[in-house]
Amino acid sequence: MTGTMTGDGRRARLEARGVTVRFGGLAALSDASVDVRAGEVVGLIGPNGAGKTTLFDVICGLRAPDAGSVVLEGADITGRSVHRRARLGIARTFQKLEVFGNLSAVDNVRVAVEMRRRWDRSPMRPLAEAAAVLERVGIAAVAGEAVAGLPTGTARLVELARALATNPRVLLLDEPSSGLDDSETSEVAGLVRSLCDDGLAVLLVEHDMSFVMDICERIFVLDFGRIIAEGSPQDVRVDPAVQAAYLGTEAAPMNGHRQAP
Ligand SMILES: Nc1ncnc2c1ncn2[C@@H]1O[C@H](COP(=O)(O)OP(=O)(O)O)[C@@H](O)[C@H]1O
Ligand SMILES: [Mg+2]
Repeated sequence: MTGTMTGDGRRARLEARGVTVRFGGLAALSDASVDVRAGEVVGLIGPNGAGKTTLFDVICGLRAPDAGSVVLEGADITGRSVHRRARLGIARTFQKLEVFGNLSAVDNVRVAVEMRRRWDRSPMRPLAEAAAVLERVGIAAVAGEAVAGLPTGTARLVELARALATNPRVLLLDEPSSGLDDSETSEVAGLVRSLCDDGLAVLLVEHDMSFVMDICERIFVLDFGRIIAEGSPQDVRVDPAVQAAYLGTEAAPMNGHRQAP
């Protein structure tokens, strides 16, 4: 099967096509489609409960959709396990931090390096490789510390390092700036950009609008499980349907500035 050609002719690296997920009577997702290309950061935004995390669960294989499919580089992977998808190159971080608190930062990353080593059968040295990934996300200094004792922002970077250690082709980031201070947030933004320059495809769920607007080339907007808008940050910001979806919610305003605390 060939992947959908996007507007400028580049094939999507990852697509979710027509995804529907129901929880009892509630449709958490209704016929939602998103796509991301190599070297692109795509935002997925929408009010609380819009279905963003559920879509990530479907893409990485934690939840089977009631309808629709997930396509990686033209191949339908909807029936594949979480583990198989990880091996195919889909990595993610979680809205609610998922790390091994009792393990050191470097051992958290090493778990993922060891997985990759088994897949690749490559002769890498796991500890050195894990240390290099920590260096890349800027937290080499805490390599030996137990993650449970680290500040939230640093622990989130450990989780990001663990995702990167599998050498992914698609990275799903669920609220990466939550728990990070402004300088950590801008470091993560710079890091994500450089990963994309290296050809990674990034799908980003984020409530910090200035972060999303700065970093994303395209944005999809979910509201009550439906994609209500797609386009450049500029297009999305002025879209009346998007503005209406955000009215009356706690979410950040669509003016591109950080909310006052
Ligand atoms: N495991 C679940 N069981 C029942 N309802 C759920 C479950 N997970 C999410 N939901 C509901 O699905 C909707 C979408 O949730 P979610 O994907 O977490 O939204 P978002 O990440 O955009 O805030 C919400 O109404 C939420 O309450
Ligand atoms: Mg969520």
